[in-house]
Amino acid sequence: MSVNRHLVGLLLGAEEDWPQAFEAISSRLGVFRYEGVDHVLDTERVRIHPFNLRDRARHQVVIDRLAYWYYHPREWLKKVALMDDAYLLNSPFTFQSMEKHSAYCALIRLGMNVPDTVLVPHKNPIDNVRWAYTSRNYNDPFDLATIAEEMGYPLFMKPFDGGGWRGVSKVRNQDELMAAYDDSGEMLMHLQKSVEPFDVFARALTIGPETMVMNFRPDEPMHNRYAVDHEFLSAEVGQETVTITQTVNAFFRWEFNSCEMLVQGDTVITIDYANACPDVAVTSLHYYFPWAMKSLVKWTAFCAASGRRAKIHVDTDPWFEVADDPDLDYQAKLVRYQQLADQHFEKERYLDFCATALPEIDDMVLEWISSPDFDRMLTETVTQTYPEHEREWFMGHFRGLVGLWVSDQNAVPA
Ligand SMILES: Nc1ncnc2c1ncn2[C@@H]1O[C@H](COP(=O)(O)OP(=O)(O)OP(=O)(O)O)[C@@H](O)[C@H]1O
Ligand SMILES: [Mg+2]
Repeated sequence: MSVNRHLVGLLLGAEEDWPQAFEAISSRLGVFRYEGVDHVLDTERVRIHPFNLRDRARHQVVIDRLAYWYYHPREWLKKVALMDDAYLLNSPFTFQSMEKHSAYCALIRLGMNVPDTVLVPHKNPIDNVRWAYTSRNYNDPFDLATIAEEMGYPLFMKPFDGGGWRGVSKVRNQDELMAAYDDSGEMLMHLQKSVEPFDVFARALTIGPETMVMNFRPDEPMHNRYAVDHEFLSAEVGQETVTITQTVNAFFRWEFNSCEMLVQGDTVITIDYANACPDVAVTSLHYYFPWAMKSLVKWTAFCAASGRRAKIHVDTDPWFEVADDPDLDYQAKLVRYQQLADQHFEKERYLDFCATALPEIDDMVLEWISSPDFDRMLTETVTQTYPEHEREWFMGHFRGLVGLWVSDQNAVPA
């Protein structure tokens, strides 16, 4: 009996934890059967070397953590998508819009709550001789203090394409505003109304049609930002956060992304919506790490075994038809967007695939997370991440939180 082998490429930066988890779970998955055919996922860490544009890619799916920053792997990904139908998480063809700015624009058009936001021209002219001529002749003078005054303090000044808190400042008055703008240099900045006070910071990690909305505490150190908390949103608000997240992902064809929302009462406000390389470190996600790894393997297996075809360009029409329909209110639009997102991610077919082709995966992942293999990976990660005198404490911390996940799974009635 022949087996359909699918090679999954991992295009990696400095991470070791989740790739090891992904490799271990894929390998333990072994042969799985879907629609009468046996399938296997093979994994391989993609290496970087000259490639001929006519070389055939061996990979069917590639999980990319590099191409947002580096051109060579980015161009290889474009080649394998265009020429070899490789399926990408995420596709570099979506990078053009993978910044906060495009996501805000799309979300505003789709009717979501985005804080008042202004894009300010560069503080320092970009280093290009022709631009000097353009800016001298065409840049309108503007009064930033008046713009800020009209928006109302406090405000956030942050790069239109930010990530990792780079260049983010909260400004409470004109002095802070001017200092932040002076510091922005050649970064292109948004000025955005601060959402405060808010009740909950909800951060959603999405992999294909799977979304986990977590209670996020941005002021805590990295290892403590995600609270283990299952009931911090009402059912309605929880659904709204899922729909908004899946809408923006399906709209831009992002496969693997994390999104940030601030919740004030029953109102969900979106502040950060595009992360080409969302944080999935075990030292950040702890309790939620098994869910993330399982979802990544399930979605990858589905894309490979079902032969899911990627679409390279965005199709805005069906979304804007809903957005621009004067007869639909916000709630009705959310329902329609969720349907469009479910169609895009083939949710029904995916759920059927998980139930029929991967019926053992929950037990298998539980077993792996409880195994010495996982503990070894955790120990290595803690050793690499923290100074020696803190390692024991961190081992206890992460073992405790992952152990809580294990006991919660065991407590679920069969
Ligand atoms: N409009 C806002 N209202 C309230 N808080 C905000 C707002 N914008 C940003 N923040 C705060 O500043 C933090 C960083 O902003 P933002 O997420 O936009 O930048 P980032 O560089 O993408 O950071 P990260 O990589 O941590 O997500 C947010 O996590 C939030 O705590
Ligand atoms: Mg953010």
